[in-house]
Amino acid sequence: MARARGLLAAPAGGALVVVYSRSGNTAAMAAEIAGRLGAATLAIKAPAYGDDFFGWTRASYDAWNKLTSEIEVPDHDLAPYDWLFLGSPIWWYRPSPPLWSFLEASDLGGKKVVLFNTFNSRFKDAEIAEFRSLVEQKGGQLVDHVYVRRGRAYDQLSRQEMLDEIRARLDERVGAWPVFKNK
Ligand SMILES: Cc1cc2nc3c(=O)[nH]c(=O)nc-3n(C[C@H](O)[C@H](O)[C@H](O)COP(=O)(O)O)c2cc1C
Repeated sequence: MARARGLLAAPAGGALVVVYSRSGNTAAMAAEIAGRLGAATLAIKAPAYGDDFFGWTRASYDAWNKLTSEIEVPDHDLAPYDWLFLGSPIWWYRPSPPLWSFLEASDLGGKKVVLFNTFNSRFKDAEIAEFRSLVEQKGGQLVDHVYVRRGRAYDQLSRQEMLDEIRARLDERVGAWPVFKNK
């Protein structure tokens, strides 16, 4: 893939935050992580999963059937980064198809990976184990999984409560991510 000028300025050993978010929640988590790291963010787009009923139907179908999806990603180069933070909503108990598609297309040789998710109620450990396997197949190591549960529609965190929750989860975890110690 071609190199994006902005990302080439990354310090060796730095972190890149990569995120797919259909409705903004996981993007908010990405922004919080990137802000703490002073890291660049790479946003994955998946035009098939628009913000309407048809987009939801397609998203649901692809996720349920564990399909990959057409994604649009700005030109980038993962080589300068030792740490990748990979974020996505949970769809049908697992990270959404766009993140799998990104992973399939990427070489993670020697990289430490932190998976981050937002979701309403639950994910399944077996699905995260499958994600871990693919990270390893691609040469990386999944070192952490950090997530925020927003609650179901009738009892969901407000935007501010979600942000507070994101910050609390990150406060708990940053010590385990040596990338922060270099800052
Ligand atoms: C197709 C689809 C399937 C979903 N499946 C789950 C699920 O299995 N478990 C869950 O807790 N939330 C599920 N959700 C809810 C999302 O994970 C949740 O709203 C998430 O915070 C959305 O993140 P985003 O705003 O970054 O897109 C699903 C949402 C969609 C659109």
